[in-house]
Formats: sequence, structure tokens, C-alpha cells
Amino acid sequence: MANTEKRFSNKAGEEYDLFSLALPHQYEIQSKAVETLINHFTGADSIKVLEIGFGTGITSSELLSKDKDIHLTGIDSEPKMLKKALSKLQFFPKEQFELCTDEAYEYLKKQEDQSFNAIISVWVLHNLKRDFRNKIISEIFRVLKSGGIFVNGDKIAVTEPALHKEHLEWQLKKFDVFEETSRPDLKKEWTDHYIEDEDPERILYENEFIQRLEKEGFVDLKITDRHYMDAVGFGTKPQ
Ligand SMILES: C[S@@+](CC[C@H](N)C(=O)[O-])C[C@H]1O[C@@H](n2cnc3c(N)ncnc32)[C@H](O)[C@@H]1O
Repeated sequence: MANTEKRFSNKAGEEYDLFSLALPHQYEIQSKAVETLINHFTGADSIKVLEIGFGTGITSSELLSKDKDIHLTGIDSEPKMLKKALSKLQFFPKEQFELCTDEAYEYLKKQEDQSFNAIISVWVLHNLKRDFRNKIISEIFRVLKSGGIFVNGDKIAVTEPALHKEHLEWQLKKFDVFEETSRPDLKKEWTDHYIEDEDPERILYENEFIQRLEKEGFVDLKITDRHYMDAVGFGTKPQ
């Protein structure tokens, strides 16, 4: 089962770095996701990290700048992202990272059991239909080393419908900034994207996220650092 959806081949993908205008806590989620990963390994000499969906490389850059003991492998299914991310990482030593264009499930299937100490993904998994997302989560568990951590900084909806509606309305209003900055095209693309994310087959709820990870065998599950629709969710693979 391959994922053929291309949700970032449009202008929203090309101009992804402008997204922070509509998401004041964007960097907060990215940096907290990275901090969660790094804090899990206090004292480790070398941490082999897989990043799923590096995009323009914001989270990748945060990972490499916060811990020189990290070796990062990044994958992203959208070919246009590779050049952008490589440009963002140009000042880091080449031996500290490798990036390639690949789809998450296809890439994970090719990896041996217990290949990475940590797997991180920021604003990627909520884009996927549930069945496909669950297949990726199973592969993440298999490919992670025992004692390793999976961190997902993502759009993770609260389970309470009225509160979720409030969060969604807040976010849609934030897209007005693109009109104010003469980019009504981006307002439309991001609004459409957020409405598509509400599809019952796609929306990622926090209770579902925790239950799914538990089912795979993850422990110490937590959701932290919530800002409206976004939060950091993580779990570890038992020793
Ligand atoms: C919203 S961007 C997030 C970028 C980055 N993680 C960040 O923190 O800014 C989502 C990225 O995930 C990629 N992506 C979506 N589905 C994917 C999949 N199935 N496999 C690999 N990459 C995927 C997209 O191409 C896009 O670059």
C-alpha cells in the first residue's frame, strides 16, 4: 500500500517557511519536540535519529544545533523539499547528517529491526489517512531500538468536540494574515488544507494517538506542550 497523496507539492509547500506567520507557536512545537528527544538521552555518546518529513529543514536544523552527538537521517517524500533543507543545513558538518527523498512507509520497510535510537516527526503524520498512518506507526516501533523514543510534534486534536471546534476557529482566523500580507492564495491553500484534515478518516485525535502507540507496545506515553491544535506526543520502546 503506497501513499500517493501529494499535499505539499503546492504553494503552501513551496512557501512553507511563511507558515510561521499564521502559527505563532510553530518554533515552540519544533523546539519542544527536539528537546523531548534530546532529554531522553542524557549522557549518550551517539544518537542515531530518523526524521520523517524534514520539509524545509527547520526541525532538522534544531536537532543538529542542539546536540552534536546526533547523527541525523532525514527523509521527505516531496522532491522540492530536499534542496531547501540542504540549504538550511549547509553550515553543519556533512558527516552529521544525510537527507534523501523517500516516502516514510517505503523507507521504513527497507530498514532492519532496531535501526534507530530515536524517530522524530513534526507536522507530518496528521496529513495521512488513518489506516496508512497506523501502518507507519507499526514500522516506527519495529525500526526503533529498545529504549528508544518516538516523538511526534503534530496537529493532535483534543478529543472534546467543542474545544476542538474552538481551536480550529482560532487557527482559521490566523490565516487572515496572508490576506494582510497580500498572499490570499496562501490563505486559501492553508484553509483548504485544514478543512481536509478534518476528514474523519484523517483527523488525528489525542486519545487515538495514545491508544495506537500503546497497542504497538510503546510505554511512558505523554502529550505535552499543547498550543491550540498542536502538541508534542511521545512514547518509548521498552528495554
Ligand atoms: C508540514 S511539513 C513539516 C516539515 C518539518 N517537519 C517541520 O518541522 O517544519 C510536512 C512534510 O512532510 C512531508 N511528508 C508528508 N507525507 C509524507 C510521507 N508519507 N513520507 C515522507 N514525507 C512526507 C511533506 O512532503 C512535507 O515536507
